[in-house]
Amino acid sequence: MKNVLVTGGAGFIGSNFVRYLLKAEPQVKIVNLDALTYAGSLENLQDLPNPSRHIFVRGDICDSKLVDRLMREHAIDTVVHFAAESHVDRSILGPAPFIRTNLVGTFTLLEVARRVWGTQRIGVRFHHVSTDEVFGSLMPTDPPFRESTPYAPRSPYAASKAGSDHLVRAYFHTYGLPVTITNCSNNYGPYQFPEKLIPLMILNALQGKPLPVYGDGRQIRDWVYVEDHCEAIHLVLREGRPGETYNVGGGNQLSNIELVQKICALLDELRPLAPSHPGTAPAKYASLITHVADRPGHDRRYAMDISKIRAELGWSPRHDIESGLRATVEWYLSHLDWVAKISQAKDFQAWLNANYSNR
Ligand code: NAD
Ligand code: DAU
Repeated sequence: MKNVLVTGGAGFIGSNFVRYLLKAEPQVKIVNLDALTYAGSLENLQDLPNPSRHIFVRGDICDSKLVDRLMREHAIDTVVHFAAESHVDRSILGPAPFIRTNLVGTFTLLEVARRVWGTQRIGVRFHHVSTDEVFGSLMPTDPPFRESTPYAPRSPYAASKAGSDHLVRAYFHTYGLPVTITNCSNNYGPYQFPEKLIPLMILNALQGKPLPVYGDGRQIRDWVYVEDHCEAIHLVLREGRPGETYNVGGGNQLSNIELVQKICALLDELRPLAPSHPGTAPAKYASLITHVADRPGHDRRYAMDISKIRAELGWSPRHDIESGLRATVEWYLSHLDWVAKISQAKDFQAWLNANYSNR
C-alpha cells in the first residue's frame, strides 16, 4: 500500500479513516476524493496528522474521467471506498441520489479500477465499505448476521448498498479484480453528521429540544466506535483475503431508548441543567424524550457475528459502549464550534423540518 484513493474521506467514517491511516502507515500518500455533499466537509479534515501526505480533490465518484485521471496520475494501488449517501431516513424521502452514488458510483469506480489496473493482481486492492443493513432485520432471539447470511435489504439505502456489494463481488469473480468488503454495524464517535441518532440527541438535548425516538424505541443496534471500524478496515487491507467479506461489529447491542437514556445521563453529569424551580434538584435531560411516528420499514434489530475477522485477522473492538459514548459526548461538548459550522450545511434545517415537523 503506497498510494491510496479514499472516496468519501470528508464524511464521518472516511475522515476518521484518513486520520487513522496517516498515523498507522507512515509512508502512505492519500488522495481523498469527495463531492462535499451536505454530509461532507473540509471542517472534518482540519488538523490532520502529516497533512503533506494528504491531497484533497473535490469531485464526484460518478465522474469516470476524473477517477481515471486521479488513479493514473497518482499511481493508485489501493482504493478504499466510503463515498455514499448514508442516511436511511433520507433514502425513504428521496431514494434517487442513493441509486446514483451508491450503485452507479460504485460501478464507475470498479470500471476505472479494472481499466487502469488491467490484469495486475498483485499489490493492488479495491476495498468496499459496506453495512450490516444489507442482511435485513433480526428478531430479538435470532442469531447475529454472519458473512453467509442471505441478503434481505429493506430500505432504499440498504438495497443500494446490497447492490453495490453484489457488483464488487461480481468484479472479483468475473474479472479477477482483487476486492475485499467489510460489512459493519452502526458507527459512532467524533465528526458524525448531526442527522444521525447519537449526535442528533446530544445536540437537541443541549438546545432543550425534544429527543425524537421513533416508535417504541425498542429497536436494537450493535454500536461500534468509529476508530475500531477504521482499525478493522486497515487490517483487512493488509491481511484480508481477496474476494472475501468480513463482518465488523461492536458487540454492544442496545435498544434506542436505552442508548438515549445513557446519553441523557452523561449530559446530566457533564452539563447539568439548572433546577426547574429554585431550591429543587436539577432538571433531567430524559424529560425531553418524545416518542414520534416510527420509521417506515424500520429494521427491528441488527447484530454482527465477528468470529471470522477475529479468527482470521485477530481483530476485535477496543471500545465498549460506556467508554466510547463518554468519549463521544465529551467530543461534541468540546467541539461546539464544529457543530455550529456543520449545522449550516446545505439544506440541513430544511431536512430537520421535513423529517420531524409533522411526525
Ligand atoms: P457520511 O454520509 O458521513 O459521508 C459520506 C461522504 O461521501 C461525504 O463526505 C459525502 O460528501 C461523500 N459523497 C457522497 N456522494 C458522493 C459522490 N457522488 N462522490 C463523491 N463523494 C460523495 O457517511 P458515513 O457514515 O461516513 O459512511 C461512510 C460509508 O460507510 C458509507 O459507504 C456507508 O454506507 C458505510 N457505513 C456506514 C456506517 C455508519 O454507521 N455510519 C456503518 C456501516 C457502513
Ligand atoms: O447499521 C449500519 C448503518 O447505521 C449504516 O449503514 C448507516 O449509514 C447509518 O446511518 C446507520 O443507520 P441507522 O438507520 O441504524 O442509523 P440512525 O442513526 O439513523 O438511527 C439509529 C436508530 O435510531 C434507528 O433504529 C432509528 C432510530 N432513530 C434515528 C433517528 C435519526 C430514532 O429513533 N430517532 C431519530 O431521530
